Amino acid sequence: MSSNFYHYPVWVRIWHATNAVLCLFLIVTGFSMLYSNPDNALVVKFQRAVAIHNVCGVLLTVSYTMFLFGNLFTTNGRHYLIRLKGLGQRLWAQGYYYAYGYFKGEKAPFPVDRERKFNPLQQVSYIGVMYFVLPMLFVTGWALMFPEFILKKFLGVSGIFLTDQFHVVLGFLTVIFLFVHLYVSTMGKSPVSNFRSIVTGWQESH
Ligand code: HEM
Repeated sequence: MSSNFYHYPVWVRIWHATNAVLCLFLIVTGFSMLYSNPDNALVVKFQRAVAIHNVCGVLLTVSYTMFLFGNLFTTNGRHYLIRLKGLGQRLWAQGYYYAYGYFKGEKAPFPVDRERKFNPLQQVSYIGVMYFVLPMLFVTGWALMFPEFILKKFLGVSGIFLTDQFHVVLGFLTVIFLFVHLYVSTMGKSPVSNFRSIVTGWQESH
């Protein structure tokens, strides 16, 4: 018998939807800027892509601040506290399940319950993207908007060039996260049940 748990409060759902839409705009305009030039537009005209990217970057910083405060001041934050003891084994068990057990109809090793919203792999990837990748994307993104604050040279290489390269690598990591996130999200109770959860707030156990 499956049970339902209210795991996604309204503020998480609003933050997540805003975050998803802004990230999609940032990815499209980011790629457009990367692979086009002022005379040759890829998806969006270069100058327009720059403008949209900047506005979405600023809005994403605002929505991220909402996420940070939400996790600091509500119980949602406890899902991001990871227990390091035995983590390797738990990650292995979850990885094995995603790669093999799931397709053999085995039971999930860390099913959703009242206390547990994320399995260990979700926990590690959400912590990685929310507390490491996105903050560094913001710092490098804001620096590129105000390049006068960037070091002229670092170890003989242009500071702006290095910041830009770092920003692009972080952007690619976010794209990779998104693909994996979307795929893994289909591996819930049914292929659509996790997507339903992030809209309604209610999550079904396996
Ligand atoms: C079209 C875009 C997206 C879709 C359809 C989507 C889908 C989902 C779904 C179904 C869940 C609930 C299942 C779960 O908890 O794992 C979820 C949660 C989550 N997603 Fe996404 N996602 C998208 C974009 C993103 C992006 C761009 C990020 C971060 C850069 C992100 C970060 C998260 C986080 C951190 C959670 C857990 C939130 C919490 O409960 O605290 N998602 N997403």
